Order: sequence, then structure tokens, then C-alpha cells
Amino acid sequence: MSDRIIKIFDTTLRDGEQSPGNSMTLDEKLQMAKQLAYLNVDIIEAGFAISSKGDFESVKTIAEQIKGPVIASLARVKKEDIDAAWEAIKYSARPRIHMFISTSALHMQYKLKKSPEQVLQMAVDMVKYAKSLCEDVEFSAEDASRTDRDFLYRIIDATIKAGATVINIPDTVGYAIPEEFGGLIRAVKENVSNIEKVDISVHCHNDLGLATANSLAAILNGATQVETAVNGIGERAGNAALEEVAMALYVRGNYFDAKTNINHKEIYRTSKLLSNITGVQVQNNKAIVGFNAFLHESGIHQDGMLKHRETYEILAPEVIGLMPQALVLGKHSGRAAFKDRLDHLGFRVDEDQLQKAFEKFKSLADEKKLVSDRDIESIVLKDTIPVEEVFQLKTVHVESGTDITPEATVSIINTKGELITNTAQGTGPVDAIFNAVESLIGRKINLLDYIVHAVTEGTDALGEVTVRINEDNRVYTGRGSDTDVMVASAQAFLSAINKMLHDQP
Ligand code: KIV
Ligand code: ZN
Repeated sequence: MSDRIIKIFDTTLRDGEQSPGNSMTLDEKLQMAKQLAYLNVDIIEAGFAISSKGDFESVKTIAEQIKGPVIASLARVKKEDIDAAWEAIKYSARPRIHMFISTSALHMQYKLKKSPEQVLQMAVDMVKYAKSLCEDVEFSAEDASRTDRDFLYRIIDATIKAGATVINIPDTVGYAIPEEFGGLIRAVKENVSNIEKVDISVHCHNDLGLATANSLAAILNGATQVETAVNGIGERAGNAALEEVAMALYVRGNYFDAKTNINHKEIYRTSKLLSNITGVQVQNNKAIVGFNAFLHESGIHQDGMLKHRETYEILAPEVIGLMPQALVLGKHSGRAAFKDRLDHLGFRVDEDQLQKAFEKFKSLADEKKLVSDRDIESIVLKDTIPVEEVFQLKTVHVESGTDITPEATVSIINTKGELITNTAQGTGPVDAIFNAVESLIGRKINLLDYIVHAVTEGTDALGEVTVRINEDNRVYTGRGSDTDVMVASAQAFLSAINKMLHDQP
């Protein structure tokens, strides 16, 4: 196996988080950052500090609390951006300022309204300024894949001389084709002096479904850092998926003559944690982490698998931490068996979390009889994601059917500790529940999304509900899970409202 290490720069919390449906609270970002540290990414891009007070606080908290990876903040080539980035990351033992400016003729003319010389000067001045604050400075030539080659070489050369330690070559709009993008990286290596003194990074978007292929082509041609996001989230069609890049290098390490520092066993859990936080599930046929990624349906394939696993499996699921279902727990299983199962599945829980999860497991086992690993995963991930409890759901009763107007009675405990109850009607049972909750809290809520997802097959499956609401341009995601989808809906709606009230009482 090769000694050549490709650094993984994870931008789930910046490029990923800024994409629709993926916004996270500070606590959720912190939890995700902890998981990224277990995954052993080399760099966590924690956010874009100048973009909002919330982003600044998240980057700062992650810089203060997460040990191990480099912690980066994005910044435009502007003094105020760099100051904000530095203020947020300076508490990290390994801070990095990541700055960018567009370098393609199209972006410079229409977006920036600046000449190439002005852009070059701004980049050099601001890399120098960033360097006066922070030793580790990454410079990104935005829209590099559509940038005039000579200008790209010049700006890279100049920013290296100004002190950049990492040069990032983004395929910002996902326009490149693998062979061409690999050629671009090779050309940069051949035409920029001092390039061997810095890390060459790539940041590929997935508009043509080529983000992973382009990143791998770049590695074959000399890239030493790849920017990725968990589950491939990010602007538009997303960024190169971390799990795809990492596992391609694992399975085909000899071909690439390279490997990553990623702790592969954490891949499945990291993907699940992100989906549980945002409520955005990956598609079933998603490479590496999709529900079907390790299932074999056709008879011929099943026969081959039984005879010899490698006939149809290039990667064992356990390598990414997806453990085979060894035994199914039921209502007679005790705390020790439950804890043992959590250990086997790789979950790290404290005593409090274990107790809460065990109680939920017990009540689920009463309803469902057999509790699978996927159910346990759902319970534990839900319980370890921090929740803000302003209002607390007590009971939900719903009446609905073909010949009656749906009606819901909801009881909650309010901020004064009082039990309050309301009954409301709606066009359907969920609408009735949401109307009852709105009357109880005394405000109208702007609902953006309502998503139901079954954790396992079967009509007794745990239903996971995700609700997205918005106020003042902020989106709040709430989650609920129960074998009764109506109860899960009430939990999810109230949890989104609680987050909103926590943020803006
Ligand atoms: O896609 C892009 O070019 C970016 C830069 C800020 C690196 O996200
Ligand atoms: Zn991007």
C-alpha cells in the first residue's frame, strides 16, 4: 500500500450547510463536527464567519472545542472577511483562513466588474494580509475550470509568493470532464513555479454527476487535497461525496497509489447522523451509503454471493461501519443487551443518553415486538441530537376517516409549566394537529416541508417525520419518530417551533 496521503477537506458545514434543506443549528453543527473528527478528516471547513452572527458563533465554537483536524473559515478577499474568519478560528490549535475570488473572465466581468489585474492585486494583497494573522492560508480561484489558463497560472504563482500554503482549483459550476480536469491539474503542476511547496486542492461540484470522477482524475494528476461533503451535499447538485472519494481510494488504492487518513468505520454513522440532523435522506441507490448499496436482489447475484462474497461485492459493508444484523432485540432484552448492541453498532453514548435510549427502546419493543438495528440507530441518533425544549408535547389524539372532518386534540406543557389543551379541525389529520399546536402557542407558522420516512419495512415500522418551517429568512428543521406517524408529526412540528423560539424568543 502506498504512503501517499490525500488530505480530505470537509465542507459539509459550509458549502453543504448553505444548500437548501441542510441548515443546522449551532449545537447540530458542533455534533456534526465531533463526528467529522471521529471520521478523522484532515480539515473541517466550519463555516463562513462573516456571513452571519450565527455562522461566526458556530465557527468559533467548533474552533474552540474540536481537537485534531485543522479548522477553516471561508472568507472573500476582503479585509473585513479575513478579520471575521480569524476572530472565529484563532482559538483552534490548527487554524486556516480559506479565501476565494473568481478568476474566470465571465465572473470577473459580470459578477465582480473588475479587470484581471485588479483581481490579481486584490488576491495578492489579501493573501499577504491573511498570512500576517494566520500561518495556514488557502487560496481558491473560483470558477478555475473556466478560467483562462495563463491567468490561472499567474494568479496561483502570485498567491504562492504572497504566502498561500494551499491552492484550491474549484470546478465551481460542475462543468469539467474528468480527463480535461486531470489535465488542468497536470498543467498547473507543469506551469507554476513553487507549486511543489503547497498543497494542490480540488473542489468539484456535481452538476453533471462528475464530482467524484473529477476529484479522482485530479488525484491521478497530482492533487494532494480533495474537498468533499458528507452525502455529497452542497450548492445545487452538491459537492464530491466524501464517502465516494474515500472509498474509491480504499478499494482502488493500488490504482491511485494513494490513500486517505479517513477512519472508514465511521462513514456509515456520519452519513446517518447528517441525514438525521437535516431530515434529508440519501437516495436508495446512492453509492456507499444508500439503502440498497449492499443489497443483492437478483437470483443470480444472490447465488454468486452465497458461493463467494467477492463475486458481486467489491466492499464489505462492515468496512464502512454498517454491521450485519446479528440478532434482533425484543421486549425481553435487558439494558446490558441493548448497550452491547450499541457498542457493536459503534455508538458512543453517555449514561444519560443510554438511559433515555433504553426507555424508548423498551416502549418501541412493546409496540413492535422485534426491534432491528435500523430502529436502534433511529432512536439513538435522535437522542444524541441536541433539542431545545421550550414547549413539551404531552398527548395527541386524532380522529379522521372517509366521512368525518379530521380533528385533533393536542396537549402541551407551556413555558410556565402549565398543561394546556386545544382541539382543532383541518383538511387532514396532520393539518388538524398543526392547527391545534398553532392555537396553543398563539402564532401562525410558515410550513416549508413535511416529509415522512419509514425506518424499516412493514406496517409496524418506526415513522420518522421531518418538518421545516421558516421565519425571517431562517429555516428551522424539526424531527419526530414514533410508530404512530401522527404522534411523530406533532413531535416534529413542535421541535421545529422550539428551535425557532430558542433562536428568536
Ligand atoms: O464552488 C466553489 O468554487 C466554492 C469556493 C468558495 C471554493 O465553494
Ligand atoms: Zn463550492
